[in-house]
Formats: sequence, C-alpha cells, structure tokens
Amino acid sequence: MSAMSASFTVAPVRHAQAIRRSRKATGKVSVRRGVVAKAVEAAPKLVTTKSEAIFKAAQDILPGGVNSPVRAFKSVGGGPIVFDKVKDAYCFDVDGNKYVDYVGSWGPAICGHSNEQVNAALKAQIDKGSSFGAPCELENVLGQMVIDRVPSVEMVRFCNSGTEACLSVLRVMRAYTGRDKIIKFEGCYHGHADPFLVQAGSGVATLGLPDSPGVPKAATNTTLCAPYNDLEAVKKIFEENKGEIAGVILEPVVGNSGFIVPDKEFLEGLREITKAEGALLTFDEVMTGFRIAKGCAQEYWGVTPDLTTMGKVIGGGLPVGAYGGRRDIMDVVAPAGPMYQAGTLSGNPLAMTAGIETLKILGEPGSYEHLDKITKRLIEGILEAGREAGHEVCGGSISGMFGFFFCEGPVRSFADATKSDTDKFARWHRGMLEEGVYLAPSQYEAGFTGLKHTEEDIDFTIAAAKRVMARI
Ligand SMILES: Cc1ncc(COP(=O)(O)O)c(C=O)c1O
Repeated sequence: MSAMSASFTVAPVRHAQAIRRSRKATGKVSVRRGVVAKAVEAAPKLVTTKSEAIFKAAQDILPGGVNSPVRAFKSVGGGPIVFDKVKDAYCFDVDGNKYVDYVGSWGPAICGHSNEQVNAALKAQIDKGSSFGAPCELENVLGQMVIDRVPSVEMVRFCNSGTEACLSVLRVMRAYTGRDKIIKFEGCYHGHADPFLVQAGSGVATLGLPDSPGVPKAATNTTLCAPYNDLEAVKKIFEENKGEIAGVILEPVVGNSGFIVPDKEFLEGLREITKAEGALLTFDEVMTGFRIAKGCAQEYWGVTPDLTTMGKVIGGGLPVGAYGGRRDIMDVVAPAGPMYQAGTLSGNPLAMTAGIETLKILGEPGSYEHLDKITKRLIEGILEAGREAGHEVCGGSISGMFGFFFCEGPVRSFADATKSDTDKFARWHRGMLEEGVYLAPSQYEAGFTGLKHTEEDIDFTIAAAKRVMARI
C-alpha cells in the first residue's frame, strides 16, 4: 500500500461538483525540475467510510476482498471504492460520491453504463428466459453481426469470458497446425489460463508476480515470449523452433501494460512470417474489439489475422467471450470437427441480446468519431497538464482507448512501460479520485471512454488533472 492510504477519510462530501466548490487554494508554491509551479490547491476531501467498512468485511469473505485482483487497488493504495450504481459515464459509490468513469467496467460500458436501449431489450428478453442451453436465433444474429464487421471472422463460437476465448483459440491453433508451441509478447494479457501466465502484464505485473504459483512448468514450456514491437526477436524464435510453432497471439493495441501502440510494420511483419512458416496469427481483441474501430483493431491497421478473440464490448456488460476466424480453421471446432470446447451458458439469450444492442448502437453513424474526438482531447489535456506541472509524461489514444506513463518515453514495450514512475502514478490516481474522476487503479492498464462521455466531462477531467498534476 502506498503512503496515500493514510490520508483519505475526512469530512463528508457528496458530489464531485460539491468537491470543487468547497476547495480552497493553499497558496503553496512548489519548485520542480526548474519549473516554478502555480499556487497548488489542497486535495479536496473524499469521504469513503462505507466503502472502507464494506471492503473490510469483504476481506473475510473473498480472497483479498475482491473477485478480480486489480480491483483491490493494491498498486495505488488507499483502498478500493465500493460501487452502489452506474449510469452513463458515471459511477456512484456507497458513500454517495459521484465520479466520471474511465474504466467502464474494464471496457464493456462503451455505450454508457446501464444504457436504456440495452436495458429495454434485456427486460423484454428476460421474460422469455435467461438461459436455454439450446440453439436460439439470437446467436445467429450476433454471430452474423460479428462476421459482417470483423475482417478475419467467417465463423464464430461464443463462450463466457475473454479468458475462455483465448484458451480455446490456443487449442484451435494447436489442433489446426498439429504443433504445440506458441509465441506471445511480454506484457500482453490473454486471460488467466495456465499457458498464458508468462510475462502477462497488468494484473500479474501489478502484484509484482513474475508468474503465478500453481502453473506447472509443463503448461508454460511451450509458450515462447518476445518483446512487443520486436520483429527480429520473433524471427529468431521461428528460426530456433522450425516447424514447431502453432501460432502467434498478441494484443493489436496493448492495454495490459498500459496503453502501447504497435508499429504497423510490426503487425505486417507478423502476418508475413506466420504465413511463411505455416503458423496462425491471432489478434486478441478482447479489449480492442469494437472499441478501436467498427471492424476492431484489425480493420484500423489493415492487417487481417487468421483468428480473433473477443469479449468485453461484445457482451454489452454481460459475461461473453467469442473466438472466430477463417472457415477452414473454425471447422476443427466440435461438433463440426474434433477439437472439443463447450459451455453450459455459452450463447445464452441475455448475453446475446446485450451484445446485439451494443453493436447496433456502435454501428450508428458518428459513434467512433465521437470516441476518437473526446478521447484525443482528454489525453492531450492530461499530457499538457503533466508537462505544465513539470512532469515527464508520454501517452496517446486510439478511438475510445487511451493511456499515459510518467516517463519520457516513447513506450513501445513492457520493458519501456516499467520505466514509468509508479509511485507518482499512485498519487495521481488518488488525487483524481478525490476530484471525482475514476481511473484504472494501475499504471499498467489502459483507460476507456464511451459514447456517453460529454465534452463537459472532458473539461471537468482536464481541469481536475491540472490541479492534481500540480500537487503530486
Ligand atoms: C486482451 C485481453 N485478453 C483477454 C482478457 C481476459 O478476459 P476476461 O477477463 O473476460 O476473462 C482480457 C481481460 O482484460 C484482455 O484485456
């Protein structure tokens, strides 16, 4: 826990606007790297009494008090905020505080939280049943929408999470090629299945674990790791493992080491090498899918992989994963082919409904233009606030995904990302929380915007960023 944790429960403040109205400048002047900062305002007071009580109780019930590690705020300290409800671009905690939300349930909330259109369709569907365990037409509808939008996908299989999609696609790559080895990249996360828990970015990096105990060596000794954006390293691995590599999997824009953009030539090079070596290329678009562009990151980059994994957005807030690709490859999946993969709740009607409505909304004209415009303005505002206050910062955005690091940059790999000042990030994170802005509680996570973020939300956030950057 950082030192921040000591200083965050004080007088009651209900709303971010109220926080701003009650703030007083201290007049303190700080000097940083030769830059004379402006008068620094004191941090507004944030009351989190109920959050603390609930989280304390949770620690006796759930391991670490959470059901997914990064939610525990371990790398930024201060204790997590316990949510009461979410709506549009905002989340509300159990103490009555309101925040502009840039986590969006870790990606799914791209149409805004608790979207009316999605909710109405879900309400209508729930009366017809929440799980069939039998074919339903909604699976065809969402499947066809995915096929129509995603260049690499000719057939798709729905499952229940991104983890499940990635572990299934790994089996497809192996079944189709008859080879065992795979290449992944340092800092890329593909869910928590054993073979991927090698240099796996965000959650694992946040906890400072090199790998996870409980993963047998046998499960990872066919996983070969290369630095991101390093085509020569990939070529070398192929040379050293001639005829043994089933495929290459990567995030086509990294969000699990913070926000890292690939060189287009890197992706094109991977496409060429895999083709030449008889291996398959998989884009893990669990995070980037339908967020970077209507046809996912592969459309944005103009590079078509053989296989694609999806999750998050495609479930519109319900648990969904999916994998798809070329018809001749997907034909190995049972019962069309011999490769076994199944799921009791896979393709369930509620998840399909939320996905269909979400993709419909995203398909409306102007959706991605809005995401791109507000997110660019947001990240530029944050970077400018950082530089004005004398911090080394670098970062960027594509469509509704963004991130920045507290270092000079450029950040092109996980090794570069680790040069960021994570203590400063922790102070930034807590400072923004106090200002009514909810950001991912780790340097190694990307941020997300959605269609309900307004220009006013961005103004509000940039103004907060200026105050926080000045006092951290
Ligand atoms: C790129 C990527 N792949 C896979 C996963 C795993 O998805 P899930 O958490 O739904 O299991 C994630 C989760 O954040 C992800 O970002």
